[in-house]
Amino acid sequence: MNVLVIGNGGREHAVIQALARSPKVDKIYAMKGNAGIAELAELVNVDYCDVKAVGEWVDQKGDIDFTVVTPDDPLALGLVDELESRGHRAFGPRKNAAIIEASKAFSKELMKKYNIPTAKYETFTDYEKALQYVENCDLPVVLKADGLALGKGVLICKTRDEAVGGLKEMMLEAKFGSAGTTVVVEEFLEGPEVSCLAFTDGKTIKPMITSCDHKRAKDNDEGLNTGGMGTFSPAPFFGENSAKEVMEKIMQPTVSAMNAEGRMFKGVLYFGLMKTKDGYKVIEYNARFGDPETQVILPMLKTDLMEIFEAIVDERLGEVNVEWEDGACVCLVLASGGYPENYEKGKEITFGNLDQDIILCHAGTAIKEGKIVTSGGRVLGVCAKGKDIEEARKKVYANAEKISFDGMYYRKDIGIKYREIVKE
Ligand code: AMP
Ligand code: GLY
Repeated sequence: MNVLVIGNGGREHAVIQALARSPKVDKIYAMKGNAGIAELAELVNVDYCDVKAVGEWVDQKGDIDFTVVTPDDPLALGLVDELESRGHRAFGPRKNAAIIEASKAFSKELMKKYNIPTAKYETFTDYEKALQYVENCDLPVVLKADGLALGKGVLICKTRDEAVGGLKEMMLEAKFGSAGTTVVVEEFLEGPEVSCLAFTDGKTIKPMITSCDHKRAKDNDEGLNTGGMGTFSPAPFFGENSAKEVMEKIMQPTVSAMNAEGRMFKGVLYFGLMKTKDGYKVIEYNARFGDPETQVILPMLKTDLMEIFEAIVDERLGEVNVEWEDGACVCLVLASGGYPENYEKGKEITFGNLDQDIILCHAGTAIKEGKIVTSGGRVLGVCAKGKDIEEARKKVYANAEKISFDGMYYRKDIGIKYREIVKE
């Protein structure tokens, strides 16, 4: 089969590495890809948020058998619907289901209606009303821009001043663009966080192995929120009891709720959860693979990813045995100085002599005059498997030191948190 993968991050590189292992896949195209993806796929330079242009490209190409849509924007814009309407097979939720991520107001409403555990909240479109609320609510309080904001549209405000300032930025100064015109104001929850991703065809749910993200830019979870600075898998505190609770109280009710709303979800459903003293609660849904979660999940997948994708599109996921390796995997993100705020691009990357078993997932990289240079905030994911997280972590850090580019920075504490939490 010839497969087109939409996207250009570390997540897409991990997806393409997994597809390249499939005996079913002959040739991979990537729109738009990056320097690492270019080693496994032919790059296609079309703006994938222009869904019509993508549809036209696939029509014209004529020999694309299957398209995998991974990023949030094209899903929310209806790229899967566009391709299907032109008679092509595409993996990912349709627009009416991708809204579970694209609108926090929608997802909070869904959880309220179907009793899915989540933080208490209020939604505002009027600044004055929102202001009145945050001037009196409990602290800390969490402010969320309604729309897609690259994982950065969330502010955790410890003081009243921070809350009022944050609200102004979102609603009056449009810091997150139109994403911030509707704001969800949410109760602050506490507890360890886990990313639980699942394959689903709307009928069957097959959970993936769990992972933990590190969203803050600096060590000890300080600094600004980012798209994710590193991950490890599995979450040490997530045992059989957790898996059962999450399936019964969160995953199954969510998939059923989407069906009941006439929004059947087919694709990867990502449950960002917090283990609170009152049980697991949903922090966020994503309608896609996580980044950088995918970089630690897919290396552990024993089953052919292409087989899973096809089964989901054909609604026969129940027939596929999805299997995972034992052990652990760690991914460390090497970022451009200044990220998640302003940073420079075009810095040459040198890789040194990396160990054979290191998996490199390119994110913001490009080829310029024959050299690999930086082209984004998150540049590379350095990933390794091990018998446990500690072994994988050591490999990752020993190899990250060999890579360099001007301004490069990374967190020093990926894979350390939650160690002390008692295992189930
Ligand atoms: P989100 O983009 O919704 O996942 O939020 C980004 C991060 O903010 C999450 O990973 C949490 O660490 C934190 N966060 C979001 N909502 C809450 C909440 N209600 N209570 C505490 N922390 C939160
Ligand atoms: N790592 C979080 C996300 O993909 O949204």
